[in-house]
Amino acid sequence: MVDFNQRIVAPSVLASDYGQLSAEVERAGKAGADWIHCDIMDGHFVDNISFGPDFVAAVRRATELYLDVHLMVVRPDRYFPRFVEAGADGITVHVESDHDVGDTLKGIRDAGCRPGLCLRPETPFSAVEEYLDAIDLLLVMTVVPGFGGQAFMEAETMPTVAAAREAREARGLSFHIEVDGGIDAVTAPIAAKHGANVLVAETSVFKAPDMAEAISALRA
Ligand code: DX5
Ligand code: ZN
Repeated sequence: MVDFNQRIVAPSVLASDYGQLSAEVERAGKAGADWIHCDIMDGHFVDNISFGPDFVAAVRRATELYLDVHLMVVRPDRYFPRFVEAGADGITVHVESDHDVGDTLKGIRDAGCRPGLCLRPETPFSAVEEYLDAIDLLLVMTVVPGFGGQAFMEAETMPTVAAAREAREARGLSFHIEVDGGIDAVTAPIAAKHGANVLVAETSVFKAPDMAEAISALRA
């Protein structure tokens, strides 16, 4: 049984120095990261292009930590197998992408990976409700996806986190609730109070003068 009161910190390598990727991933592990979060952006689903499966495979070679892959792409059904191949432990897809959501989630599980589902800040919780028993993780975006360094959208997204926790309890399910965007020492406790147990952080961790301190501040 997962202890949802125990916070899992998942630094996003989006803000790391790609020229020294393995050292950066190692640095995050030594600083206390629980998972490593990889943000995949295709330039269509979001207005930014990040990196692909070969990059994730390089992250995989640098760490044994749980690899949490977040696909911000138009066709996650088409691309998820390449991320399974690259060594992802969990693959999260957006409910707003152009695919049969149920089929994609099942495909990810059948491939031996943990399926996650994500929703953008403006998407109502009702859009993901029918898939909750098929997922291991629900990712609530706390900024509009695409770029790091944006402000946490508390008013728009905390009701979704709270609704997810309520639905999980009511239905006896056990998926993680993850938040992504604008997470720092001030916003982490707010997200946790509403029910989030996995905290993705890019800027507040990779750009911090002391990464270990920044990670432990997210648990406080
Ligand atoms: C948003 C991505 C992120 C994000 C987090 O498009 O999914 O993981 O860049 O960045 P910070 O922590 O800087 O808000
Ligand atoms: Zn992300």
